[in-house]
Amino acid sequence: MAKLTINDVDVREKRVFMRVDFNVPMEDRDGKMVVTDVNRIKETLPTLNLLISKGAKIILAAHLGRPKGKREATMSLAPVAEKLAEMTGRKVAFVDDCIGEKVERAAAALKAGDILVLENVRYYNEEEANDPAFAEKLAKVADVYVNDAFGTAHRAHASTEGVAHVVTKRGGKAVAGLLMERELKFLGDELEKPARPFVVILGGAKVSDKIKVIDRLLEKADAILIGGAMSYTFKLALGAKTGKSLVEPDKTEVALSALNKAKARNVQFLLPTDNVIANQVNTGKLNKKGKPVFEIVNPRLNTAQDIPEDAAGFDIGPDTAKHYAEVIRTAKTVVWNGPMGMFEDARFAKGTDAVALAVVEATKNGAKSIIGGGDSVKALNNAGLGDKVTFMSTGGGASLEFLEGLVLPGVAALADK
Ligand code: 3PG
Repeated sequence: MAKLTINDVDVREKRVFMRVDFNVPMEDRDGKMVVTDVNRIKETLPTLNLLISKGAKIILAAHLGRPKGKREATMSLAPVAEKLAEMTGRKVAFVDDCIGEKVERAAAALKAGDILVLENVRYYNEEEANDPAFAEKLAKVADVYVNDAFGTAHRAHASTEGVAHVVTKRGGKAVAGLLMERELKFLGDELEKPARPFVVILGGAKVSDKIKVIDRLLEKADAILIGGAMSYTFKLALGAKTGKSLVEPDKTEVALSALNKAKARNVQFLLPTDNVIANQVNTGKLNKKGKPVFEIVNPRLNTAQDIPEDAAGFDIGPDTAKHYAEVIRTAKTVVWNGPMGMFEDARFAKGTDAVALAVVEATKNGAKSIIGGGDSVKALNNAGLGDKVTFMSTGGGASLEFLEGLVLPGVAALADK
């Protein structure tokens, strides 16, 4: 159902409490936390600019990382506020709390068009607990509630859901931002009746992460192309040997039932026919999490059905990439979620790159290409192709849950049109 947006409400001189997903990657550089990917911030700029032009007093709430109720200095939103100031060329105020007197004072000092960023809402356990009293405290500075945090809309937390209810109960409006509106349009409306052929490309490590999406999109797709480590679980289900590849033996049944459903519905369901395999050698070292570090050596092409006992698959092979690209190029609608291999390592990035190029070509030929967030977005951006597809979601888990057909609490809490 379509949601009211900031275009539908009067925000002049009003305090607009806006939930954004500023959960951006950060790096410690000489003791200073630095934002290393500004995409999620950039994507909220259209909403911010419209609110500024409408004379709203903007209060931004967000989380960063998972501090679990503690004031983790490395998870402060202060560097993000600084980055936002740089990106907007405006003064951006920051308070080192998200509730209480300090926040109320800073909000009262705002003039039309000003921006205030609040500290990480997850410094309080009450945020993730969706505590009603905490939502009331957040809502103290909210005349209007805006949710532009699609990436966090699958969480029923105080700042994503609770505040919306408080504001609505008080007779105020809870509406979507422009990014939220775009996400719902492309991941939702556009896929209601997709132009055909509708090709779905799914990759990533686990069948268990994607099976619900596969199941749902099997109802609509003309072709589903599988890559990434999850393809080895499908292979295992079909009786192939998968060597040391990452597999989920307890998911072979669901994999088989997806294959059967595809057959029954006449959906082309493609699995890799060749792979890039390699051996893993234990270096004897441990990583920061105390897990053994493996070196991946001797990458080579495997065209056989089975993967040798001592090797694991790390990418789709060239024949598979060529075939997948041919299918993708014929599409009129493409959904892509998840890389074809361990693309962070250049030796295993060719399959993902080939898919990225084919998606771009399909787009040039008039297809709508919708990229479901996370690693596929990273892969496209790494290849400099991010602006050559129709839409890239800012959501990871949220886009998956949405594609599964689940109702996201952060969306449900907003007013319908
Ligand atoms: C994300 O990065 O996917 C969102 O910001 C949600 O973060 P979370 O998984 O910690 O809730």
